[in-house]
Amino acid sequence: MRSKRKDEHVKLALKQGDYDNDFNKVRYIHNSFPNCNFSDVKLDAHYLNQDFETPVYINAMTGGSESTRIINGNLAKMAKRFNLAMSVGSQHVALDNPEYESSFSIVRDVNPDGFVIGNVSANATVEEAQRAIAMIDANALGIHINIAQEITMDEGDREFSHWLEHIRAIVDGVDVPVIVKEVGFGMSHDTVQQIIDCGVKHVDVSGRGGTNFVWIENERSQDKRYEYLADWGITPVESLLMTRDLHQNIEVLASGGVKTPLDVVKLLTLGAKGVGISGQFLKFSQLPEEEMMEECGKFLEDIRKCMILIGVTRVDQLPTVNYELQESLGKYHEAK
Ligand SMILES: Cc1cc2nc3c(=O)[nH]c(=O)nc-3n(C[C@H](O)[C@H](O)[C@H](O)COP(=O)(O)O)c2cc1C
Repeated sequence: MRSKRKDEHVKLALKQGDYDNDFNKVRYIHNSFPNCNFSDVKLDAHYLNQDFETPVYINAMTGGSESTRIINGNLAKMAKRFNLAMSVGSQHVALDNPEYESSFSIVRDVNPDGFVIGNVSANATVEEAQRAIAMIDANALGIHINIAQEITMDEGDREFSHWLEHIRAIVDGVDVPVIVKEVGFGMSHDTVQQIIDCGVKHVDVSGRGGTNFVWIENERSQDKRYEYLADWGITPVESLLMTRDLHQNIEVLASGGVKTPLDVVKLLTLGAKGVGISGQFLKFSQLPEEEMMEECGKFLEDIRKCMILIGVTRVDQLPTVNYELQESLGKYHEAK
């Protein structure tokens, strides 16, 4: 059942249409003199206690079936070629059925020296979290919080009151950095504060506007009654703006709806230290290998092009550049 679900998630994520993600409401002012050269622009970034060549990472998606083993293999090839950190999808299916382990560990086999991130739910025990890390020799562990997905999934969980307690226990019980992440519904100020109070040091606000698990679970459900919830959630732009005063207390990563290099640059400007991409990389992973590498290479090169357009040569300069927020986000100007 869970293995079949993994295949359905991929199929529906690839079929899903676009949603508004607020990126178009963040606007840079064009300047004609950048005073630097394209070759000066570097993408080096530091997050998850590690130096990376780029602020972009492949976010949690899949594993748990034969076809998702192939996808994870392709994603890992891309991660290796471009030195991207990469997360696997939820490992519970393999924690319960070891026959599925290879669909996750392929990521480590393909990329022995890469930065690989494990993934469990907030239901996981400390022992399960440790086994998930060992399964792929993970450098970090993501814990996903996905209330909107579970509640709209016919076979989803209905008990959530233990989540914060489990997160606290896992943070204390594992020896790699822990990232608490949403799955495309964003995080409010209260949510991030609760996560900080658990002792967590890294969060991925993973907001609305890209892969939409309410839409996906509605499509999978018997009676398809959740369409009215399809625009539920907070965009990553809103999440970053809302939580701005907390960024000094926790490292904030962002994802959700990132389709273009300019989207990446905008999230970095709003305070993200790293930017996760799922849906767009899933599309790349469906291409023949040479084309997949070409598309990924162009995407990373174009982040540098966007940076020179804005007039910066380093990622850590992005939070200092001027931008405008369109009307509906105007209330956040006061907080700036
Ligand atoms: C096919 C698919 C499966 C996913 N499965 C997981 C998962 O197992 N665990 C998790 O933390 N997030 C999962 N996600 C959510 C992503 O990590 C990310 O938070 C979300 O898709 C928003 O990013 P995007 O708009 O770039 O896709 C999945 C996403 C996709 C597309």
